[in-house]
Amino acid sequence: MSIQNVSIIGLGKLGASMLAGMASRGLNVIGVDVNKNAVDAINSGREPVQETNLGDMIAAHQPRIRATLDVHDAVENSDISFVIVPTPSDERGAFSLQYARYAFKSLGQALKKKNRYHVIVLTSTVLPGATRHGLLPILEAESGKKCGPDFGLCYNPEFIALGSVIRDFLNPDFYLLGEFDPRSGDALEEIHHRVSQNNAPVKRMSLENAEIAKISVNSFVTMKISFANMLAEFCEKVPGGDVDVVSDALGMDKRIGRKYLTGGFGFGGPCFPRDNVALNFMGDQLGVDSRLLKTNDDYNRGLSRRYVEKLQPHLPRGANVAVLGLAYKPLSHVIEESPGVYLCRALSEAGYRVVGHDALAAPYAETALKMSALVTDNLDEALRDADVVLVTTTDKPYLALTPEQLLKGKTQITVVDFWRALKPLARDPRIRYLPIGICTSSEIDGQLKALWASP
Ligand SMILES: NC(=O)c1ccc[n+]([C@@H]2O[C@H](COP(=O)([O-])OP(=O)(O)OC[C@H]3O[C@@H](n4cnc5c(N)ncnc54)[C@H](O)[C@@H]3O)[C@@H](O)[C@H]2O)c1
Repeated sequence: MSIQNVSIIGLGKLGASMLAGMASRGLNVIGVDVNKNAVDAINSGREPVQETNLGDMIAAHQPRIRATLDVHDAVENSDISFVIVPTPSDERGAFSLQYARYAFKSLGQALKKKNRYHVIVLTSTVLPGATRHGLLPILEAESGKKCGPDFGLCYNPEFIALGSVIRDFLNPDFYLLGEFDPRSGDALEEIHHRVSQNNAPVKRMSLENAEIAKISVNSFVTMKISFANMLAEFCEKVPGGDVDVVSDALGMDKRIGRKYLTGGFGFGGPCFPRDNVALNFMGDQLGVDSRLLKTNDDYNRGLSRRYVEKLQPHLPRGANVAVLGLAYKPLSHVIEESPGVYLCRALSEAGYRVVGHDALAAPYAETALKMSALVTDNLDEALRDADVVLVTTTDKPYLALTPEQLLKGKTQITVVDFWRALKPLARDPRIRYLPIGICTSSEIDGQLKALWASP
């Protein structure tokens, strides 16, 4: 089966980017959304959401792209439909199927009218069992047809990072393909070979194995991050300790690898924390001992408070503290589960006057932090009265900070550098430079000596 026409249901951050990516590889793509603004944006050659290169790519490949509110139109005029609607975390920590159920209902009704074979691909992140037991019955009930002979079904999540969604989608390490049967999988594999710019391998398996694999990737990566953060604390306690030196050595071991092993601050954003919590929820439901995941989440969520406690000797009572970096990563406006935002709250609870800065995320952080911190997108304003500056991301303007910019006429300032990216500041006697993950004290020497002294 040679597929030329595909449809995408859900034109958000991932769906719109996939639409643009697929069109750029020569496929005709019909986008569907319940939000008319998203449909109108695509039809007029604009991006419906903010994402790197998205607007340019939609405009460049406009002849192969159209959007509609009508699922029937999309199903009738394509051979395969990707469903990329939200699956938000519910109060239990599981992923809600509320939007996916609605989308599958309308897809089932569209399948009923279609006379040809069609493949439905779920790309939204779901938990093990959800595709077969939560969504497939809706398709069969609404269409009156049988999965297998009449239509196909796959679970095909993506591994992408906000800010590089299109690049990641076109150049993945591998495609994870959960299939109801080989016929469904063959159709989807063909699409992947067409779309991939890096000839990425396709890993085919059952729906359930793909669901477990998807959620495990982020959980594993976050364990690596937490491990590196714990190493950073070890290094701070041992004279001469330097987490980058240790991590560089660890990373040479092929079983470990260097990625995501830079100790500094915790993980955040819309995916990492929630995936970890969701897999732990699954463990609880299935009687699996998943304490590892729970501990990882607790450790990560506790980091901001822990840092405030640890730094207390360097934070004079009532000091003005500037937190630079409120998004969960550099060059982002996303503050969901952001360590920088949590740090502002923890500092405020400990009695400090806090100013948060972020060039892109300030408008979002302002609302989230209205009880805890002043928020600005003006770096000089954030630094004006600061006694202590905490740098939580490696955004370029922070890396270029000069002693004069930091001091602003004061005689002394303390700089806490979570990613050790401002080391030259240590040379200025007016700056008390405290890199996270590096031992800066010789007092601990005594502790270490005492530990090994002969009885
Ligand atoms: N954004 C990411 O970084 C990322 C990464 C990996 C996985 N995912 C997963 O992809 C899924 C979508 O995430 P997102 O960030 O793109 O969400 P989003 O909120 O940005 O977009 C979802 C879109 O779906 C639309 N929609 C909702 N119900 C619909 C329906 N019945 N029919 C048609 N359109 C509908 C919404 O209007 C919205 O435009 C989630 O399951 C998420 O976990 C996202």
